[in-house]
Amino acid sequence: MPRNILVCVAWPYVNNAPHLGHIAGMNMPADIFARYHRLAGNNVAMVSGSDMHGTPTALRAIDDGVTPEEIAGRYHEIWSRCFKQMGFSYDIYTHTHTDHHRDVVHDMFRVLDEKGLFYEASQSMPYSLTEQRFLSDRFVEGTCPHCGFADARGDQCDNCGRTLDPSDLIDIRSKRDGSTPEFRDTKHLYFKLSEFQDRLATWLGSKTDWRPNVRNGAMNYIREGLRDRAITRDIEWGVTVPVEGYETKRIYVWFEAVMGYLSATKLLAEQQGKPDAWEAFWKDESAETYYFQGKDNIPFHAIIWPAILMGYGGLNLPTDVVANEYLNLGATGFSKSRGNAVWLPDYLERYDVDPLRYYLTSIMPETSDSEFTWAGFHAANNNELVATFGNFVHRVLTITSRNFDGAAPEPGDLDEADEAALAACDTAVRDVAAALDARNFRDGLRAAMALAQHGNRYIDQKQPWATVKQDRAIAATTLWTGLNIIATLRTVFSPFLPSSCEKIHGMLGLAGDIASDGWNRVEVVPGTKLGPPAPLFRKLDDSIVDEENARLGRPG
Ligand code: MF3
Ligand code: ZN
Repeated sequence: MPRNILVCVAWPYVNNAPHLGHIAGMNMPADIFARYHRLAGNNVAMVSGSDMHGTPTALRAIDDGVTPEEIAGRYHEIWSRCFKQMGFSYDIYTHTHTDHHRDVVHDMFRVLDEKGLFYEASQSMPYSLTEQRFLSDRFVEGTCPHCGFADARGDQCDNCGRTLDPSDLIDIRSKRDGSTPEFRDTKHLYFKLSEFQDRLATWLGSKTDWRPNVRNGAMNYIREGLRDRAITRDIEWGVTVPVEGYETKRIYVWFEAVMGYLSATKLLAEQQGKPDAWEAFWKDESAETYYFQGKDNIPFHAIIWPAILMGYGGLNLPTDVVANEYLNLGATGFSKSRGNAVWLPDYLERYDVDPLRYYLTSIMPETSDSEFTWAGFHAANNNELVATFGNFVHRVLTITSRNFDGAAPEPGDLDEADEAALAACDTAVRDVAAALDARNFRDGLRAAMALAQHGNRYIDQKQPWATVKQDRAIAATTLWTGLNIIATLRTVFSPFLPSSCEKIHGMLGLAGDIASDGWNRVEVVPGTKLGPPAPLFRKLDDSIVDEENARLGRPG
């Protein structure tokens, strides 16, 4: 029975371009996962979009002297284009500044309100005397009361990850001009998050297969006691509040952005002409929903969104919240706000996509922070992709083409090494599947690479370039076996390196596409005409390491 698998990828703020930290944190794991499940024959929807609202974009707009809509629109285009170039297989990538999203948000809002989960309360909020307006969320900074971090923002501390209210900040100041705001009363709607304390604790307690960092992180918030959260803001940029008296306020960006997972799935269903198709993911209780993100998103996906879903009722809670730690660049983390980053549009101007997909997966910060280095990228490309994977594929294909009329040869009896090579194919199909299904992406990549290594050893041992001159029958068996390894590499690598695997598919002369073979080891039919062999990966010159480090402003 095919499984219904909803792949939810965090919605990036579009106040700047994507950098490699974002990609390693959320897009790569989500895309690998979605691609694997499609190949395995499951019913997959991978949904996301740009998080258009909120203070990050509003702040950037003020800095640039343009409207938030202009900023968000401009960067939404950039993110969308980069995602396409990277081969991310979103079934839908939309954004939150649409009428459709607003309607879905308003519906959820009304239902939660009718269920008595909102109340109005007066809140003391920072008010800028220099700008004559309330400062919410990222418009203010100060010291975190929990961990003492000096640059915590009004909504969250970047250091300890806790969600905050501006009044929690010690030595609060305006992010815009450093002035000290004064606190003034303003009315807001609150979501009764505290009511979900016990249900959330029980639910989280049952999630024993979650990564410990996510589960423990979420449990810690619960243990500290959940506080009701203000879900409206004094800001002009955002989704309107469907409540009288709130005309000048907007819904808190996080409260509506998480609803994007539902609104995007509904929009996808509409676009497919099957308006009820979203229910297979949200209402069918056997459906699985996975949320991919960086660790700063954990409280919103593991606590607030589940509480919203519990309150609304009838919709599936997350099966897993798959949060990565951070990818660091040297000693400093990738952070668009701090400007020290490798920007994806820059990367894409200079290098190929699959080497990045490969390297970022191989260093994916799954359980602890990890480090991106250009030397590491260079080595992964030259030593692993070119020397191991590409070289094996190229050797087998060129020797076969040259000596067997450009077609797959007919094998004779298989010896122990041939059998072991085919068994390694079965192992790879099984191990990669198990790792990816369990959201262990680095393990999955290692299991795929193990097959390429096995292939190289096998060919080195069999030396078909020599046997072809002495005993063509043996060479035929070796090369046929080699082609089978390549066919399996094509399958098990395709979630990671989709475009290279499409190329392999063509070089093997196979019909249809990779998907038509499913997640299986298919046997190469003798006589199949091969396509022209071409190198899969390009060797990178050693000089790129120094060049790129110089771009980052540090010594080679
Ligand atoms: N925009 C947020 C960020 O960049 C993520 C929002 S995820 C969503 O951290 F689900 F809320 F949309
Ligand atoms: Zn903190």
